[in-house]
Amino acid sequence: MFDDYSLPEGGVVADVGGADGAMICQFLAGEPDRRGIVFDRPEVVPAARKVLAEHGLADRVDVAGGDFFESVPEADVYVLSYILHDWDDGSCLRILRTVKAAAARGARIVLVESVIPPGDGPHPAKFVDLTMLAMLTGRERTAEEYEALLDAAGFTLDRIVATPTPFSFIEATLR
Ligand SMILES: C[S@@+](CC[C@H](N)C(=O)[O-])C[C@H]1O[C@@H](n2cnc3c(N)ncnc32)[C@H](O)[C@@H]1O
Repeated sequence: MFDDYSLPEGGVVADVGGADGAMICQFLAGEPDRRGIVFDRPEVVPAARKVLAEHGLADRVDVAGGDFFESVPEADVYVLSYILHDWDDGSCLRILRTVKAAAARGARIVLVESVIPPGDGPHPAKFVDLTMLAMLTGRERTAEEYEALLDAAGFTLDRIVATPTPFSFIEATLR
């Protein structure tokens, strides 16, 4: 999934809802000049510290506990991996606006999500979408829907990088 993909430039990368830090370990492993922050609920922090230590990244990746509806740490690049699909549009806007409040103009955001392709053909995201509809408040979205959400929160979509997996990297910049 990470083959040939590098995050946009920026010295500090915050993984918002970064869980145990496995994702940021992948992103920063080959990037010794960047620092990172794993941000998740306070009860998740101990697991993240352990994983970062196991990957030898504890010295340049901090861990912070909190609520992404309230505030997130300041950073140059924000990763939100499998976060927005858990939430309805109003909640997504609240999360994105919290990022906006912490970030400087020009900061980059990278959503890691499935993007529903045009047309009526089968796609894994459509099955996940049905699960979300039945069990949770979230939903899978098309490229246009992600662009509209980002735009409403003050971010301009830059590009969507497809991967060999069902997931894409959706990059945007804070206006
Ligand atoms: C679907 S998981 C994604 C985990 C990880 N980003 C990944 O790609 O595997 C959602 C994550 O969001 C975190 N989370 C949920 N609500 C949160 C909140 N209000 N503030 C901070 N983190 C939250 C959860 O603890 C969980 O780690």
